Amino acid sequence: MFEFRIVPKIIFGPGSIGKAAEEIKALGGTKILIVTDKGLVKTNLIKKIIESLKGFDLIVYEHVTPNPKDTDVIDGLNLLKEKNCDLVLGIGGGSPMDVAKVIAAMATNPGSLWEYQGVDKFKFPPLPLILIPTTAGTGSEVSRAAMITSSREKRKTLFLSWHLTAKTAILDPELTLKLPPTITMWSGMDALSHAIESYVSKMANPLTDVYAEKAIALIAGNIEKTMADGSDIGARSNMLLGSLLAGIATANARLGNVHGLAHAIGGQYDLPHGLLCGALLPTVMWHNLEYCTEKLKKIAIILDEDAKSLPLKKGAERAVELIKGLCKRLGLPEKLEEVGLKIEDIPELVEKTDIIPTNPRPTTKEDLFALYKMAITGSA
Ligand SMILES: [Fe+2]
Repeated sequence: MFEFRIVPKIIFGPGSIGKAAEEIKALGGTKILIVTDKGLVKTNLIKKIIESLKGFDLIVYEHVTPNPKDTDVIDGLNLLKEKNCDLVLGIGGGSPMDVAKVIAAMATNPGSLWEYQGVDKFKFPPLPLILIPTTAGTGSEVSRAAMITSSREKRKTLFLSWHLTAKTAILDPELTLKLPPTITMWSGMDALSHAIESYVSKMANPLTDVYAEKAIALIAGNIEKTMADGSDIGARSNMLLGSLLAGIATANARLGNVHGLAHAIGGQYDLPHGLLCGALLPTVMWHNLEYCTEKLKKIAIILDEDAKSLPLKKGAERAVELIKGLCKRLGLPEKLEEVGLKIEDIPELVEKTDIIPTNPRPTTKEDLFALYKMAITGSA
């Protein structure tokens, strides 16, 4: 038995941003809170979107930070209330979209933010919410999850609820054309880790498998093309589609230890989520190998047809090798000590790591110590 759900209306394709005004009107929005970040506000992108929304009362909240904090949500929510906004428009990567989701839900659910952390705590539907990703990575536009960091505890906290979903997601690959190669790569590796983690998840089902397999092929087949030529709209479209499909798979099958570890490290050290996911992916795949051998062999075949002839375990090992090779070519750190993590950090990180029940290999605290040691030093 399995359940499968795709929530927002999805509008996809070059130029689809032109549909935003129509969608806002259809949802009855008049006073719009645009949730974004300072980096984006400086670009032509937001200016263009704002120009296309003439006739609406627009309030821009641009103070979302990477690994967004509780204070980002609270400040945005206060602005929404002060200005009486009736619709939230999240534009950006995962951080602005996650903050937009929580602001829209907090606008209709009373009390303090931390009452709603965890699973299914929001009682009332959110304000109408439209999400517009500008990176091909998080899949946040189709998920019911938001990660918010407690600024006091430096801990990333999951908010998971169907009341955190958008009414409409607009995915326009043209918005990703100007992304610098590093951000393109980090976002792409986040998306690839979503596809692989949902594919080997304990909650994977035949429908999520279809989405995850297609996502793996699209992302692995296009990430280097977008790095080499950011203006390749075909490759950009494939990456955005891959990230969307991975997001749908993840929304239904959830994630694994790559994200368990990446969230703990990201909350503590404020390092980019995609960098961490990419750097952790081969280690976690290797650690899970005995528990998802068939799926890993299938991944190897998606990445390289010649893997078909390999025996099962060799095929699974080939998948890890291929992903390791991709990470190396992309310039991701092979050891997290390269980005400042230290072996003495491990006990605190383990304390802050949530055990992810959907990871294929049941994970103990000892496993987490071993995973962190491998990820930081490159050896067991
Ligand atoms: Fe992620």
